[in-house]
Amino acid sequence: MTGSCRDKVENGLLPVLMHMASTATPFDLQDLTTRLVFDMTAAPLFSVDPGLLSPNMPPMDAAAAMDTVMEVALFRHTVPASCWKAMRRLNIGPERKLAAAHTVLGGFIEEMMEKRKKKEHVANEGDPSSVDILSSYIDDPDYQQNDGLLHATLINYTIAGRDMIGTALTWVFYNLAQNPHVMSAIRNELSPIASRKAATGANNSSTMVIFEPEETKSLVYMRAALHESLRLHPPVPIERKTAVADDVMPSGHVVHAGDTLLISLHFMGRMEGVWGKDCREYNPDRWLSEDGKKLRYVPSHKFLAFSSGPRLCLGKDVSFMQMNTIVAAMVWNFDVEVVEGQRVQPKMSCVLQMKNGLMVKLKKRDM
Ligand code: HEM
Repeated sequence: MTGSCRDKVENGLLPVLMHMASTATPFDLQDLTTRLVFDMTAAPLFSVDPGLLSPNMPPMDAAAAMDTVMEVALFRHTVPASCWKAMRRLNIGPERKLAAAHTVLGGFIEEMMEKRKKKEHVANEGDPSSVDILSSYIDDPDYQQNDGLLHATLINYTIAGRDMIGTALTWVFYNLAQNPHVMSAIRNELSPIASRKAATGANNSSTMVIFEPEETKSLVYMRAALHESLRLHPPVPIERKTAVADDVMPSGHVVHAGDTLLISLHFMGRMEGVWGKDCREYNPDRWLSEDGKKLRYVPSHKFLAFSSGPRLCLGKDVSFMQMNTIVAAMVWNFDVEVVEGQRVQPKMSCVLQMKNGLMVKLKKRDM
């Protein structure tokens, strides 16, 4: 995943951004990051690059189907189960849309598996590019006997990668644009790495700097800036849990076995009792030790963006690797300006996407 991320940044993202900067055309950053991360996720999963980031590539039906899955999931959280189950049986309303989306996603997975198979004939044994995540499932007897489970797992991976990181990155740039001092602090942290690369000639491009995933791993300020954005704008805004037994919550509320609990990660990230008086401010310093050199320990039950406990997000480390690499490349090489006068508001969905996207303009920075 690291190799795929790094290649996509160098050969996909930066050329597209350079083009946008040279034409000074405003564009929807959310659309771009979602396409980028879709490609980045699919490549190591299927050994096939859907190529969505290529200029003029039309939106993919599978991408729209993923949006539908997330929107209908929120609908299911908000109505009694008997209601959506009846709609599913009658194939009406949002449930009809969901069934259609599942058909599209099933077709997408089949298509990717077919393309992968064709590629397998060409690939030599031992070729590292033919090793993908799917291989580990195909060889697993549990999955061999259950096509539905394999499809669901692959769709889960694709949605987890595309939606979460695509959404998280859009909010990161929204927050950075409103807080230029944070953008400067990230550049200061990147500066010694860029100088070292220039001195040793380690950079492939003369006009742009590409930061290797390994190089950005230990950058604490950048990590703090990402955490702070995820606190205020968690890509998964609601966690749903079901009580397995009667219990009393620490707040004193009684829950009964079978009750559904909806936990708003979005509001938890903005509670004064949890984060203090400045809870609504974007302030990466709250994540840093007194001397600013280390990240403070914050338990996952306080910072719930990746959930907590045994069902903690499995993609957390991958997420930071991808976000670090993308943010470093964009922040160092470009000034990102959010177009004024647009209404930024969340969409009604299980993913905190922006309803109207985020229009931005780019300017190449002088090196
Ligand atoms: C900023 C990025 C991401 C955020 C904020 C995030 C957040 C979450 C959250 C809140 C859950 C728990 C969902 C629930 O309990 O219903 C979860 C689960 C999961 N995530 Fe992520 N995720 C991110 C990226 C990724 C990526 C890139 C992958 C895979 C490559 C991934 C794979 C998974 C998997 C497999 C689970 C299920 C874990 C389990 O149930 O045992 N996530 N994620």
